[in-house]
Amino acid sequence: MLTNADLERLVDTSDEWIQTRTGIRERRIVAEGQTTCDLSEEAAKRALEAAGVKAEELDAIIVGTTTPDLVFPSTACLLQDRLGAHGCCAMDVNAACSGFLYALGVADKFIRCGDSSKVLVVGAETLSRMVDWTERTTCVLFGDGAGAVVLTADDKPGIMSTHLHANGAHKDLLNVEVGVSRGFKPETQGGLAIRMKGSEVFKVAVNTLGNIVDETLAANNMTRSDVDWLIPHQANLRIIKATAKKLALPMDRVVVTVDRHGNTSAGSVPLALDEAVRSGKIARGEVLLLEAFGGGFTWGSALIRY
Ligand code: COA
Repeated sequence: MLTNADLERLVDTSDEWIQTRTGIRERRIVAEGQTTCDLSEEAAKRALEAAGVKAEELDAIIVGTTTPDLVFPSTACLLQDRLGAHGCCAMDVNAACSGFLYALGVADKFIRCGDSSKVLVVGAETLSRMVDWTERTTCVLFGDGAGAVVLTADDKPGIMSTHLHANGAHKDLLNVEVGVSRGFKPETQGGLAIRMKGSEVFKVAVNTLGNIVDETLAANNMTRSDVDWLIPHQANLRIIKATAKKLALPMDRVVVTVDRHGNTSAGSVPLALDEAVRSGKIARGEVLLLEAFGGGFTWGSALIRY
C-alpha cells in the first residue's frame, strides 16, 4: 500500500492537495516481480469460483490491459495457460483506462452472435511500472489492480447494451511515448512514463462521460431514474461526482473505490463492481451503469441488469 503520506516523502505534494483534487488516500502497488498476469490470475480464479464455471468450460478469455507482461504472448494467453483452459480464444484489448469496458463489449458481442457461451473478461494493470515517481502531477494518481467477470449466454441478457468510442485526435493529452515500433528506447524517448495534461483531460472526460450516459439511456429507452447504481472508472472523485450529477444519483448510489485504489486503469471498473457485489450492496434485478474514459482517448459504457 502507498499512502499520500508516503508520496509526501517522494515529491513536493501534500495529503490535503491529493485528497481535495482527486479523492485518493492510498493505492496498491505490486510487489517486486509481480506482474499483470499474476493479478489477472487471482481475479480470474475468484470470478470463476463465484460464477461456478470451470476454466476448461471457457470459450474465450479477453484481458483489458495496457501493461502486458510481454509484447507477446498476450497476457490473455499467459493467463489461459495458468488456468489450464487450453484451446479457447485468448486475446488482450488495449484501450488504456477503458480496457475493461472494451473487453466486456467484445465479449458481449461474442456471446450475442452465438460464437461463445462462456467468456472470462479481465481488467488488469500494473501502471506503477510506468509511473514517473519524480513527477508529482502524475505519480499521485495511479495504482495497480485487477478484477474479472465471467459472462454466460442466457435467454435474458444481463448486459443490456455496451457502447464503445475513441478519438485519436487527443493522443497528445495522455500517453506513454515509448513503443516497440519506435525502437523502444525509453532513455531517449522521455522515459517509460505516463504523461498527461491533467486539466485538459479532466474537461474532456467530464463532457464525454456525460454524453455517454445520454447515449446509453437512449439506446435502452430508459431515463435517469431507471439506473440504480453508477459504477464508474475510478480516476478522480470530482469526475465521478460530475457523472453522478448528470444521472441525478445521490453519492450513496455510486460505487467509489478511488480513495483506496487510485486510478488502476482497466482494473478500476471490475474492482469496483467486485467490491459492490461481494459487499451485498447491489441487489438482483437492479440496473447498473458502468463507464470508463482513458488514453486514446477511448471511452465506453455498459448497462447491466444484475
Ligand atoms: N501536489 C501538489 N501540487 C500539485 C500536484 C501535486 N501532486 N500536481 C500538480 N500540482 C500543482 C500544479 O503544479 C499547479 O500549480 P500552479 O497552479 O502553481 O501551476 C496546481 O497544482 C494545479 O494544477 P492542475 O493540473 O491545474 O490541477 P487540477 O485541479 O486540474 O488537478 C488532476 C490535477 C490531475 C488531479 C486533474 O486535472 C485530473 O484529475 N485530471 C484528469 C485525470 C484523469 O482522469 N486521468 C486519467 C483519465 S483515465
